Amino acid sequence: MGLFSKNKMPIIGVDLGSGFIKMAQFERKGDSLKLVNFGLLDLPEGAIVEGRIEKMSEVKDALQNLLSYYSFIGNRVVTSASGKLVTVRELIMDDLPPHELHEAIKWEVDKILPAQIDQMSFDYQILSKVKDGNQEKLHILFAAAPMDAVQTTIELFKSLGLELVSIEVEAFSILRLFRFLGEVAMGKNRILAVVNLGHNYTTINLVDKGLVRFSRIIPWGGKKLTEKISYYFGLDFKEAEEKKKKDLDLLDTNSEIFNSVLEDLKELSLELKRSISYYFAKYNDNKISEVTVILEGGTANLKNIDKYLEAETNYPTVVNRLFADIAKYDPNLFTREYMYEMAPMFATATGLALKEHQVKKVEKKMKVRS
Ligand SMILES: Nc1ncnc2c1ncn2[C@@H]1O[C@H](COP(=O)(O)OP(=O)(O)OP(=O)(O)O)[C@@H](O)[C@H]1O
Ligand SMILES: [Mg+2]
Repeated sequence: MGLFSKNKMPIIGVDLGSGFIKMAQFERKGDSLKLVNFGLLDLPEGAIVEGRIEKMSEVKDALQNLLSYYSFIGNRVVTSASGKLVTVRELIMDDLPPHELHEAIKWEVDKILPAQIDQMSFDYQILSKVKDGNQEKLHILFAAAPMDAVQTTIELFKSLGLELVSIEVEAFSILRLFRFLGEVAMGKNRILAVVNLGHNYTTINLVDKGLVRFSRIIPWGGKKLTEKISYYFGLDFKEAEEKKKKDLDLLDTNSEIFNSVLEDLKELSLELKRSISYYFAKYNDNKISEVTVILEGGTANLKNIDKYLEAETNYPTVVNRLFADIAKYDPNLFTREYMYEMAPMFATATGLALKEHQVKKVEKKMKVRS
């Protein structure tokens, strides 16, 4: 529906990460948004693997704890299906009546799906009409996820008495935050590479003219770095995690800690460069457009990771801290520094929470150099 209706409670955005559950909620106050609350809690190892809920009771406990620690209002939630689970494809189809199109799409995607279509939950959107010779064709964005995994997510929220309003494709929810702000070059020649650096995974989403055109997941995240530091300095995981946050500075290239993770950092910048080159070759006729890299996820808080990746890739790079800018919050409850630090980690939860809030211009704080 797009508009925030008055009699409904605002959406609570729930980002079920493999390391941490993040929740955020905003409410409309006059002409602006107010942060109701936000919170996070870590999950035990193996509770969520490759986007699937593997340990139901642990995930349920964590969610229940979050709900009781933090005061959210109402019980309406939106969550995302991890990119690990979802198959997203662009299709070019004949311009058929809706029912025939539905059947034709099922036929078309049969070969690309990891399971039979009747075991998948799927959705599609017509993006535009394209000319193919004399014929008009439909340009379609298709997404599907295994039904059993979707069902488990539905059961999780139901068992907590929450109303699951929708499950979104993660790659699409990240865009809402930018759309909300009318942010950065949605229709221009600049391509946005939105890189979510999580605990186990990194997703690279390339956004061209306001659409996610390429999505890739790599098994790279903050946990990998912590494990290296733990091994190198003989620390347990918790100590290594603290050391990573405190001592690792990606501009301090002579330090021991930097060198303990250098191989992993090189791997990340290489994967990023590769994805962008692949996109130019396959979808952009080798035409090189301007690219801005936007970092989010908890690992985007590594000191100077933006400067490091900018130097390695030659693309201007910024950290998405829009969470701290879009809504009014009580400075007695949250300090500016805390909001700023939490912001990259809450990018997805914020995108989800904004689902029913009307697009509105807010003062932009994210500067993109070119
Ligand atoms: N200040 C910081 N400096 C460096 N790393 C940080 C900082 N704060 C959090 N992290 C790292 O961020 C990671 C968690 O990020 P996030 O919550 O985005 O992951 P997730 O969504 O649970 O995982 P995934 O997306 O891979 O499933 C952890 O590895 C944590 O060590
Ligand atoms: Mg994540």
